[in-house]
Amino acid sequence: MTKRRKLAAGNWKMNGLGADLDQIARLDAAHPAPGCEVLICPPATLLERMSAAARGTAIMTGAQDCHPAASGAHTGDLSVAMIADAGASHVIVGHSERRADHGETSADVRAKAEAVMAGGLVALICIGETLDEREAGRTLEVIGTQLRDSTPDGAGADTLVVAYEPVWAIGTGRIPTLEQIAEVHGFIRAELGARFGGETGAGVRILYGGSVKPGNAAEIFGVDNVDGALVGGASLKAEDFAPIIAALQES
Ligand code: PGA
Repeated sequence: MTKRRKLAAGNWKMNGLGADLDQIARLDAAHPAPGCEVLICPPATLLERMSAAARGTAIMTGAQDCHPAASGAHTGDLSVAMIADAGASHVIVGHSERRADHGETSADVRAKAEAVMAGGLVALICIGETLDEREAGRTLEVIGTQLRDSTPDGAGADTLVVAYEPVWAIGTGRIPTLEQIAEVHGFIRAELGARFGGETGAGVRILYGGSVKPGNAAEIFGVDNVDGALVGGASLKAEDFAPIIAALQES
């Protein structure tokens, strides 16, 4: 059986100033040698400072978005090379907030993920159904389409992480039942295997995201094919994120 290294990823979204970088030292003090990978994705303004603050710790730094092009006339955007130059190793692409707020399609997400992989970084691709889609019984259809259309052909277990984030669970305090999480993660695992072959399909990490908190992390991490979490609100403070990391280590 393929052993997948677990990943606790924090997405700070549009939160965080220089003064908040002390969370890195606090997280490191709580988990100096974590038994899983730990990633924080701060706003772009903090990428360079966070990767400097995390030097010598096990904490990795990631970006929340990128432009698919290598350079050019794209005001306000960042290329993968710039993100790597700032010290990041991962890029979140296709978060539902970007799909909703910026009209990003799965084709856009795929182009970004291709750029991330070509640049030698790990693409953390987010997919997830809305409440309307779930209530209409369309969850697996939506997830299957987003997964197929958002992931590049050449993806491998070292370059791709998939995050299942039901849109209705993000920032709401609501989470799916453990059976619902197991169903979607099992479906994603099977789809990855069919698309990329057994080894890659078994090796890609699948994270759950949406209202993961210290109080529900352990039960979520006990679900088959949950290889970690993408955490928003509870990643902002080490006192919340550290117990989530602890729960992942113990799972
Ligand atoms: P949340 O966000 O943990 O605040 O629900 C998760 C996410 O959007 O990645």
